[in-house]
Amino acid sequence: MMMLRLLEFLFALLIPVFPSLPWSTDILESKGPGTVLQTFLFNCSSYMPTLELLSVKPPTSFFNKPSLQGQKGLYRGKVTLSSSARLDALAVNYYELQLRYTCGNFVVDGSFFVHVLRDPGRIHCTGAFASPAGEFIYVPETVTPGALLYTLLLPGLGGQRAQMNITSAQDPPVFPGPFSIDEHGLLRAPSQGLRGQAQKTFQLQILVSLGKSQRCKGMLTVKVLPAPPSHVSFLKKAQSITIAEDLVPGSEVVQVQARGLNLLYEIISPRPSPLYSIGQADGVVRTTAPLDLVRVQGAVVTKLQVKAFERLRPWASAVSDLTVIVRAVNQRPPRCHPALLVTQIPETALEGTVLDTLTCVDPDSAGAPLDYQLRFHSPPDSASLRLRGRTLEVNATLDCDAPGACFQHLASILVSDGGQPQMTGQVWVPQVISLTAKWSPAEVPVLVMVTPVNEFSPSCMPHTFRVREDAGPYTLLGSIVGTDVDHPRNSLEYHISGGLSTFAVDRLSGELHLLGPLDYEQQRLYRIVILLIDHSQDWDLNSHRSGSCTITIEVEGIARADLDSKGPSWCTMTLCWGPRGQSRPPLMSY
Ligand SMILES: *[C@@H]1O[C@H](CO)[C@@H](O)[C@H](O)[C@H]1NC(C)=O
Ligand SMILES: *[C@@H]1O[C@H](CO)[C@@H](O)[C@H](O)[C@H]1NC(C)=O
Ligand SMILES: *[C@@H]1O[C@H](CO)[C@@H](O)[C@H](O)[C@H]1NC(C)=O
Repeated sequence: MMMLRLLEFLFALLIPVFPSLPWSTDILESKGPGTVLQTFLFNCSSYMPTLELLSVKPPTSFFNKPSLQGQKGLYRGKVTLSSSARLDALAVNYYELQLRYTCGNFVVDGSFFVHVLRDPGRIHCTGAFASPAGEFIYVPETVTPGALLYTLLLPGLGGQRAQMNITSAQDPPVFPGPFSIDEHGLLRAPSQGLRGQAQKTFQLQILVSLGKSQRCKGMLTVKVLPAPPSHVSFLKKAQSITIAEDLVPGSEVVQVQARGLNLLYEIISPRPSPLYSIGQADGVVRTTAPLDLVRVQGAVVTKLQVKAFERLRPWASAVSDLTVIVRAVNQRPPRCHPALLVTQIPETALEGTVLDTLTCVDPDSAGAPLDYQLRFHSPPDSASLRLRGRTLEVNATLDCDAPGACFQHLASILVSDGGQPQMTGQVWVPQVISLTAKWSPAEVPVLVMVTPVNEFSPSCMPHTFRVREDAGPYTLLGSIVGTDVDHPRNSLEYHISGGLSTFAVDRLSGELHLLGPLDYEQQRLYRIVILLIDHSQDWDLNSHRSGSCTITIEVEGIARADLDSKGPSWCTMTLCWGPRGQSRPPLMSY
């Protein structure tokens, strides 16, 4: 009573006070919006009073603007929690409110302290989780599917199991798949993972319920970060591959390999690549066209640039240089003209005489040097012919008169395209030479017929035959032996020079016969010239050579009585005569 009196007295004196102002109040953190923190009573008789909230420390919107109601000079002011109030003793447990009361000219400021008390046994959706934007969780896109992303810990939950549910929609295509949270607050990534979701944010409304009555909501916001730039690199920064030109299109050249995640391959130079392709996924480089070095210009060396890059982040890439060298392969033997070399030449041809000249071209590599080799078949080791370059010449004598010599040379010329240092454009690649094509010789048969030449004249030695004067008709006096060294040997005929004679020579055998009667008394000595004419020793059948020798025949005399008793019988070419009269002569071939 004394106190009231004092206060009335003070008001009567218009001394401004907050008559019923408590300096502080305690409040449980579980108190929600609208909770009245404190009521103040004011007297103000002649003016319209005001009550203002000047500031809150720490700043918050948890407190409403104070209300002031009343009449007849008595007013009731109230400080209440605003609709946004989420008191959390673990976050802030002490607020200081600055209030100002005005009544006419009378102004008074005062502090009001609010102590927030913890409320054990109650769940709290507090902090950033409870804020409108929610708690931010940063996750790399490479996170393992289903991996643990975050643990939601709520004050007051202790060891109790609360139901935690994501209540917001998580439907594709916005979401790769649903996130999940369990009763322990473990948030897990979708089982599909988060690849390709870089820079996206996923907002998850979480409802936490404990029993029937207690529940609160919050938000978890998952922000997906691009994976750290992965390093794409080739196992070989540069490599050189040599392939054969006869590879069929589609053949594997090489498989390039790069390190990195989820890689694709492409050829970036030349673009387009006319001869080679690369498998997008496997990096296998293949030929796409025939590589015929003669027909495809510039196929001998191709410099390729191959790129490997990540499928989802194509900017993560690496480049490798691949040089493909095509080595020549002999697919065709050289072609020669003439394809068959048949020729004839007289045996007297001089050394160096040209028989023929081959003209050969390698269809695989026009203009490439060719190698020519002469091989004898029959006779096997002839030195008669030689090859100078691609010209077949007479090397030594072709003489066929010597015993065992022949008129025919069977040989062949091997033509090889041994090496192919292909030069294409300005590029010269030494490897190509070392990898020369395999031998593929063409064989040109050679038949050289040596035609005989009648070089030598036949000859015979002078000789003397003796014959008795009573020798009968056709008596053989002896044989004349003529010789001729041309081939075939002694191919000659015998003739007696001059007209009809007492003697006859056999044309073929050279035997000399008596043809007419002899008379020692009349002629004791005969000299006849034997003419030798050769034949068949020359390509030209009309070519004959001749020789001769003189044969002497000595007649031996006999006693006359002996002669008469014999009763001679002599014949001319047409008639014989003797003691038994005339008769026909026997047939003789002269
Ligand atoms: C002030 O308030 C008291 C009640 O506490 C009341 O009796 C008195 O009349 C009031 N005075 C004025 C001036 O309004
Ligand atoms: C919430 O999640 C629990 C498992 O934590 C589940 O048993 C319950 O059915 C879910 N409730 C709703 C409404 O989804
Ligand atoms: C050519 O003849 C000479 C002898 O005259 C011989 O030494 C040489 O081997 C011959 N050449 C050939 C290619 O036969």
